[in-house]
Amino acid sequence: MTQYRSTNDEQELALQKEYMKKAASYVADLEVEIGHKPLCCVTTFGCQMNARDSEKLLGILTQIGYEPTDHEEEADFVIYNTCTVRDNANQRVYGRLGFLNSLKRKKPHLKIALCGCMMQESSVIEKIKKSYRFVDLIFGTHNIFKFAELLVTMFENHEMIIDIWQETEQIVEDLPVNRKYPYKSGINIMFGCNNFCSYCIVPYVRGRERSREPKDIIKEIERLVADGVVEVMLLGQNVNSYGKNLANPITFAQLLKEVEQIEGLKRIRFMTSHPKDLSEELIEVMKHSDKICRHLHLPVQAGSDRILQAMNRRYTKEQYLALVDKIKTAMPDIAITTDIIVGFPGETLEDVEETIDVVRKVQYDNAFTFIYSKRTGTPAASMENQVPEEVVKEGFDKLLKVVQDTARDRAARLQGQVMEALVEEVNEQDESLMTGRLSNNMLVHFPADRSMIGQLIKVSLDTCHGFYYTGHVVG
Ligand code: 5AD
Ligand code: SF4
Repeated sequence: MTQYRSTNDEQELALQKEYMKKAASYVADLEVEIGHKPLCCVTTFGCQMNARDSEKLLGILTQIGYEPTDHEEEADFVIYNTCTVRDNANQRVYGRLGFLNSLKRKKPHLKIALCGCMMQESSVIEKIKKSYRFVDLIFGTHNIFKFAELLVTMFENHEMIIDIWQETEQIVEDLPVNRKYPYKSGINIMFGCNNFCSYCIVPYVRGRERSREPKDIIKEIERLVADGVVEVMLLGQNVNSYGKNLANPITFAQLLKEVEQIEGLKRIRFMTSHPKDLSEELIEVMKHSDKICRHLHLPVQAGSDRILQAMNRRYTKEQYLALVDKIKTAMPDIAITTDIIVGFPGETLEDVEETIDVVRKVQYDNAFTFIYSKRTGTPAASMENQVPEEVVKEGFDKLLKVVQDTARDRAARLQGQVMEALVEEVNEQDESLMTGRLSNNMLVHFPADRSMIGQLIKVSLDTCHGFYYTGHVVG
């Protein structure tokens, strides 16, 4: 079902605010019925973009009177914000839906909603309609801004509500957001992707690239900073092509320069960068910036030119390595991380050796390694030479070992240094320790008081434990 409405973004915001009031009255009725404030649980699968969308969902749910909980079993409304980038994410959703069904049998007023990337696939919708009839509401990635309206429709109807759009031009600003962390926040700077890497489903489920206006981004960050945020993460599938399609085009590097000027903001991160679009201008801006963190996530995906070409990545191994060289020359202390896929159709163990060679040469601080997952509708899914599981596993294990060894070596180099950390939270295992994040994205644990959360402090990295440090506060 595709529906476009001819409202402009401001009218849409006003409309959604009306729906929030209406939804609030239904939630108030529910509170009377069940005798306590209704609880909601938002479960996020997938990437940082989804995490940010979940904060928007929670913003609306709390606005209309729900209380957040992390425990699905006690919730009166459960929503799964799904991911479909690899099939195992889909399988986890189906698995957990079985559990939700048993909860709903015990608690008939429980409402269940599904949204996010997986819902943009028609085969998924068919399957849910057939086998998961107890789901109350399904929507996709393009109409999340009308969540309040969809909730009202859900409360007023008893059958399954499905609203999936194929595209949207709309970017509705200023809807409520409920942030997970008081001191840091993700900010969407663009939506969608135009790259069509041949294995990737994202362009099909997130649509074409759309950039937000710089003034809206700046306004949002200024508000966040006034509210206590010191670190922002600018989010987009391909941030390096930010701004190209705006009425007044600007580059990502120019946007960064503007963001940097926001007083009170201490740290800036961004992801994800596509190597083919990473400009000299960006390297220059990063190099001269005190606020932009010394971390670049630069997915390589594969090291063999033949595979890179079949993946439609539009760079060669040599070009990638030359780019990394340029970045490291400009910023010797930069941490580079990456994503790698093993088992793309036609990939041989010799091809994987090329990937391993890249890992050795770049010396990644961290690499996320994935086994290729066939996504229906992508060009790679219909390629004939899918790789047998044993071959994939052999290459994957070999690669993983090199990735881990290099990351460990890289981490060890900083042992003994004093660095700045943003104090993020109480350590999960030991309550006397706090966890801080370094500019290079590594974590350090040290004795401190929880009142320091949100502060930037100097920490000595006393001991390296492979992928994190323990240390102490200096001065
Ligand atoms: N199979 C395995 N990994 C994939 N990714 C994207 N699509 C697939 C797929 N079909 C990985 C890429 C990307 C990351 C977010 O997920 O490495 O950078
Ligand atoms: Fe997928 Fe490639 Fe777009 Fe990243 S750049 S979201 S891998 S199509």
